[in-house]
Amino acid sequence: MDQFNSGLGWDDHELIEIYFRSLLTICDLPMPRCAVFNGLRMSPFVNQDTDVWPSITSVELEKIAGTAAPSEFFQSLIVESDHIEPSSKFLPVLRHFGIWAGAAGWFKYHSQLRFIERFVQSRKRRQTRIEVQATWNGEDAYSLAVFLDALCRDVDIAIVGRDIVKPNFHEMQWVKALSIPSELHDTRQIYFEEVTNEVCKLKPVWRRLAALETGDMMLDNAYCADIDCLVINGVLGQTITSSKEISEMLQRASRCLGETGILCIDNSAFAITHEVPRRRLQNIIVDLLDRGILADGGLVSHQSGQYVLTGC
Ligand SMILES: C[S@@+](CC[C@H](N)C(=O)[O-])C[C@H]1O[C@@H](n2cnc3c(N)ncnc32)[C@H](O)[C@@H]1O
Repeated sequence: MDQFNSGLGWDDHELIEIYFRSLLTICDLPMPRCAVFNGLRMSPFVNQDTDVWPSITSVELEKIAGTAAPSEFFQSLIVESDHIEPSSKFLPVLRHFGIWAGAAGWFKYHSQLRFIERFVQSRKRRQTRIEVQATWNGEDAYSLAVFLDALCRDVDIAIVGRDIVKPNFHEMQWVKALSIPSELHDTRQIYFEEVTNEVCKLKPVWRRLAALETGDMMLDNAYCADIDCLVINGVLGQTITSSKEISEMLQRASRCLGETGILCIDNSAFAITHEVPRRRLQNIIVDLLDRGILADGGLVSHQSGQYVLTGC
C-alpha cells in the first residue's frame, strides 16, 4: 500500500498510529472496544478472559513487531490481491488489542439505508425521529445520518445512537473510501476528509448530525416515546441470544414506535457465520407477527436478514 512509507521509524508516534488505524479501516476492522454478550462484558475471543486491553500506541505496536521496521511490520499484516485482506499474522495483533472483526462498520446496510431514505422522503416536512440501538461507536448511526443529510433535502431529522457500552465518537472507525455508497459520489468531499487515498474520516463539523448516548435496550429508559424509525442492527440473535429477551425487547420496541413508526432490523452481515441465531430471530419475529404484537411493514426479506416492521 502506498501509505507504508519505508522511511517511517517507530519514533514517528503519530504517523504510526494513523497508519495502523488506516490499516484497520482498510481491513474492515473497528477500533478496540469491550464486547457485551447477553448483558455481560467479555472478550470477543474464546479463551481470553479479560476485556481490558492496551491502547493502540506506537510503543505497543513496536513491542509486537519485535525487530521489524514499521513498514515491514505493517506489510506483514495484510495480503494484497484484488483487494487487501488481513493476513494470518493479523490475528494475534487483533487479540492483543481486543479488536473484534466485523463488529461494526460504515455503510454496512445499504438496502436499509435506501429503505429509510424513502421512508423519510415520504413523510414530507414532518420531523422524523430516528433511534439507532446498539450503535457501537456510532458507525451505523452516522452512516444513516450522512446518507439522509446528503439525499433528503428540506427534511427535519433527529437521530440518536445508543449502546450499552458508552459510544465514543473519537474511536469511531474511519471510513474506507471504497465502502462509501455511490449515492454519495458527488457529496463525499463535503462530509469526509482524506486520511490516505483509501481512507477518510468524518469531518468534525458533522458530529452534530447525530447524538450518541449510553443505553441498555433491554430497559424502557433506553427509548423515547413516539419514535418514527427504530433501527436495531447486528445485535438480536447475535450478542443478545436468549429467545425470551429478544422477544421482550421487540415487544418493548413496538410499544415505543409512533403510530406510523417503523422498526428496521438487519442481521444480514452475520448471516454466513451465524446461521442458527438468524433463524431463531426470524422465528421470534414471525411468532410476534402471528400474535399481532408486531405488524409487517411491507418489506420482510428473510433471505437477506432485513426486516422492516411496524408497531401495533
Ligand atoms: C456486533 S455489534 C453491532 C454493531 C452495529 N449495530 C452493527 O450492526 O454493525 C453489537 C453491539 O450491541 C451492543 N449491545 C449488546 N447488548 C446491548 C444492550 N442490551 N443494549 C444496547 N446495546 C447492546 C454491543 O455493545 C455492540 O455495540
